[in-house]
Amino acid sequence: MSGNADLLKKAAAEAAMQYIENGTVVGVGTGSTVNFFIDELAKRKDDIEGAVSSSEESTKRLKAHGIEVFDLNSVADVPVYIDGADEINEHGQMIKGGGGALTREKIIAAVADKFICVADDSKRVGRLGSFPLPVEVIPMARSYVAREIVKLGGDPVWRQGFTTDNGNWILDVHNLDIMKPMELESDLNNIVGVVTNGLFAQRGADVALIAREDGVETLK
Ligand code: 5RP
Repeated sequence: MSGNADLLKKAAAEAAMQYIENGTVVGVGTGSTVNFFIDELAKRKDDIEGAVSSSEESTKRLKAHGIEVFDLNSVADVPVYIDGADEINEHGQMIKGGGGALTREKIIAAVADKFICVADDSKRVGRLGSFPLPVEVIPMARSYVAREIVKLGGDPVWRQGFTTDNGNWILDVHNLDIMKPMELESDLNNIVGVVTNGLFAQRGADVALIAREDGVETLK
């Protein structure tokens, strides 16, 4: 990762801080952009109540900063969820899960009032699908799910050697022509053995903070 890309990720992460209200539990995603956000959040750790986290990786980083991490079941209200994306289109629909945390990410995104996506401008796309779509599967269903995905026109590749925080496996689906993201999201989730897929179309981002060389653009 180039230093310049890191600067852009950091700029997007810093811009997200304006959405954080004192006294609240903050929803925290996963990935290198979110890591910059966690480091920023640490500067305000005494102002917030704590966080809910979408991965063991983010939980570790939050705790290392002394930020309390709550079980989502014990939290009634998550006003804001901050997370990155592998691709995002003009409607705030995304492909996520490059880091394999898609299921917990999708759960917190569902609970949160507002989803703020933080990304550098390399993640902006006209049409979703160049980035292989991650699908989390129950291990015993891997081959069956792969065959069903082929029927949908995708080329699934098992992310070998990787196990999700939930004890499951990932299929990265190449060559999908994602003309109708909401429908494909449902179709994939309807395959028995799929836990969830990395299309965040039905619940996309409410706000995207896209960092470019000349500043951070806010898309709503
Ligand atoms: C992890 C994700 C990440 O948000 C996505 O992969 C982007 O990561 P990064 O900020 O490192 O580019 O969905 O499951």
